[in-house]
Amino acid sequence: MLPQAAHAVNPWVALAYLAAGVCFIFALRGLSSPATSRKGNRYGMAGMLIAVVTTLVTHDIASLLEIVIAIAIGGGIGFVIARKIAMTDMPQLVAAFHSLVGMAAVLVGWAAYLNPAAFDILIDGVISPVSRVEMGLGIAIGAITFSGSVIAFLKLAGKMSGAPIMLPGRHVINLGTLAAILALTVYFTADQSIWIIAVITVLAFVIGFLLIIPIGGADMPVVVSMLNSYSGWAAAAMGFTLHNTAMIITGALVGASGAILSYIMCRAMNRSFVSVIAGGFGADGGGDAGDGAAKVDRPWKRGSAEDAAFLMKEAGQVIIIPGYGMAVAQAQHVLREMGDLLKEAGVTVKYAIHPVAGRMPGHMNVLLAEANVPYDEVFELEDINGEFSQTDVAFVIGANDVVNPAARTDKSSPIYGMPVFDVEKAKTIFFIKRSMGGVGYSGVDNDVFYMDQTMMLLSDAKKMVEQINKALAE
Ligand code: TAP
Repeated sequence: MLPQAAHAVNPWVALAYLAAGVCFIFALRGLSSPATSRKGNRYGMAGMLIAVVTTLVTHDIASLLEIVIAIAIGGGIGFVIARKIAMTDMPQLVAAFHSLVGMAAVLVGWAAYLNPAAFDILIDGVISPVSRVEMGLGIAIGAITFSGSVIAFLKLAGKMSGAPIMLPGRHVINLGTLAAILALTVYFTADQSIWIIAVITVLAFVIGFLLIIPIGGADMPVVVSMLNSYSGWAAAAMGFTLHNTAMIITGALVGASGAILSYIMCRAMNRSFVSVIAGGFGADGGGDAGDGAAKVDRPWKRGSAEDAAFLMKEAGQVIIIPGYGMAVAQAQHVLREMGDLLKEAGVTVKYAIHPVAGRMPGHMNVLLAEANVPYDEVFELEDINGEFSQTDVAFVIGANDVVNPAARTDKSSPIYGMPVFDVEKAKTIFFIKRSMGGVGYSGVDNDVFYMDQTMMLLSDAKKMVEQINKALAE
């Protein structure tokens, strides 16, 4: 490998990395709206290509063949997983991928420690103190990301209970462990013994585990975006160790955008950002699932596909609220067809997307975009919530928690404080779900089922919408 200092002063390399960084910024800008997300993706790919090619041509790679084989194996696995994965399993896949970024940071840190000459971080035969700090922090953030992501994966995949595990004195243990990691990193600048970096690694693996186990299932969306942020900071730390500006820029962009996303998710779910990033710090177990039982003994009305078709065709405006059940049923295409049929009948159709509808950020936007729902018909919570009082039909398809008024009224509810759609203000509500016994993610009953203006359409979402479309066409 060439001495890194030589790369740092090569203006062409710096320029190429800068161009890659600018592409990544444009990529994030593009990804902020469904209308521009494809363009954003292309910018991201171009930036990554520039960064990879620049790194390959400016480093004295020992064996290009080995790198090509590694890319082929990793790319092949990624390709197969991406093609096979069900949309509903994406959150756990994202968590699993974050764990790999974390582990990569740990391995790079250890490689630099064991072979500092190859990384050009030696000064007078010892590792430079600045590099030791970078190494300590990089390994610590990487290890936290790894073990935290593994726990998030297990919880999201249902291989471990989603209930929060509250260890006694966990705040003291967490703070003590974090303080020990920081103190050892400082001590590492004076003494580069292997035991110090080994203890930092072990403690960081432990703290990642401890930070995520107290977080309940309902807060998992925030955890996924928070781990996304951690994985970015781990990559940035790796960039410092490797003296690679493109990695520093990219890692910082991922870290910052992940942190912003976590903040937005926290606001959407009314959780304290600090409490979530500190591993449920200050939380009292909020977000735990409810008792899971719908109160089926209360009176409710059953509707039919024909009722829904008739009333929606007569409506001035219909607002569709999709949720997790639409994803399970893969009903987005038939739903778009329903929207088209209603528009042909002169009805105004709007789609209302809650920030945490489904099981991952942007879940509903992705599905609706896949079904070619026009972007200008898709509205976010704060932009459409005021319209329900002037809306004839609220059409809830596979959503539950995001339309549950208990979030506004019931302080004991695990979703209390989460902003929800005011569907009960619409003249008529159609509610598609498979049975009255089924509950939403947080496991609580929903008063909307039993309201006078609500008609329950009990069926698989896709089948029900197909029947509605048939009735609309007739
Ligand atoms: P949920 O509250 O989870 O409700 C899903 C509804 O879909 C249930 O009423 C279920 O009832 C119904 N359903 C399931 N399969 C169906 C099918 N094939 N056909 C028709 N209906 C079906 O969904 P939501 O309103 O989208 O809320 C999301 C929840 O997930 C929130 O609590 C959120 O915090 C949490 N969460 C979100 C994320 C992200 S980032 N979006 C990540 C993890 C967790 P039946 O079983 O009776 O059919």
